[in-house]
Amino acid sequence: MSELVIEATGLRKEFRTRRGLRVAVHDLDLAVPRGGVHGFLGPNGSGKTTTIRMLLGLARASAGSMRLFGEEVPRRLPAVIVRIGAVVESPKFSPNFSGRQNLTLLARSIEVPSSRVGAAVETVGLTGRDQDRYKSYSLGMKQRLAIAATLLKDPDLLILDEPTNGLDPAGIREIRDTIRDLGESGVTVLLSSHILAEVQQVCTSATIIGQGRLLASGKVDDLVGASTAYRVGAPDPDAAARVLAGAGFTVSDGLVVDTDRPAAVTEALGAAGIWLTELSPVRRDLEAAFLELTSGTELGGDQ
Ligand SMILES: Nc1ncnc2c1ncn2[C@@H]1O[C@H](COP(=O)(O)OP(=O)(O)OP(=O)(O)O)[C@@H](O)[C@H]1O
Ligand SMILES: [Mg+2]
Repeated sequence: MSELVIEATGLRKEFRTRRGLRVAVHDLDLAVPRGGVHGFLGPNGSGKTTTIRMLLGLARASAGSMRLFGEEVPRRLPAVIVRIGAVVESPKFSPNFSGRQNLTLLARSIEVPSSRVGAAVETVGLTGRDQDRYKSYSLGMKQRLAIAATLLKDPDLLILDEPTNGLDPAGIREIRDTIRDLGESGVTVLLSSHILAEVQQVCTSATIIGQGRLLASGKVDDLVGASTAYRVGAPDPDAAARVLAGAGFTVSDGLVVDTDRPAAVTEALGAAGIWLTELSPVRRDLEAAFLELTSGTELGGDQ
């Protein structure tokens, strides 16, 4: 049986616009393994929402094939949609009803027992505020209620399109913690974002796109890559920099040396009578890898 919860091959989406044909998604392959949080990352206009809409049958693909839980979609979507929760556009809740009332109404309309409401409220951390009116909620609470609504079905796959959009750092952290807990509880989460730092800590794997094209995909650790730079500490940094440059190393600001042989750094400095106070690998974060990959792809114009 396929261990991929989401699988897309050669996915393409064309829009006809007044200025001609716009290709929003180009020959995109997507593979999301079961369990954990998969980041779907790309700058504004790179095709994230369009891809998600195609997966959910909200937009028709121009070419390519897609599978959810091994079932071909959109043909077999009715069979799998019960296992999927999604927040793509802002859901509509009644402003004068409490969060709990809104969820109870929703549970009734999708025919799930209203006993699920309490668990959903608890999972997203709205306990204590669930009896307050929706219109009194902060943006972060509204976003958490939207996630709670998707949990009523007890989904195996959760698709969240930029759930932290417009939130302040505290709100972002709350949503992030909720998503991390869900991923750890065995749900597969597809989490789209254009801001890496927000999702880096929760994602186990990621797909990075730019202008509708696949740029990289895999485990976050592999995407970040192994470090080939080391930060050097020495009592006299200028003297250390001179010695290292003289020994043929490339030294950049902050006494960072580009090398995959840290022992050679120790040796060169030791030979000059300089003793290290620090030698630590400089880890690129996903943000740096992302910026490098997507530089020049920010504006998804006509192609
Ligand atoms: N209905 C449409 N008609 C024409 N072009 C569209 C339509 N919907 C999306 N596009 C274009 O497709 C491209 C991808 O848009 P999409 O909304 O998928 O990007 P995104 O990655 O979700 O961006 P963001 O981070 O801003 O949400 C953009 O160039 C956008 O203008
Ligand atoms: Mg979008």
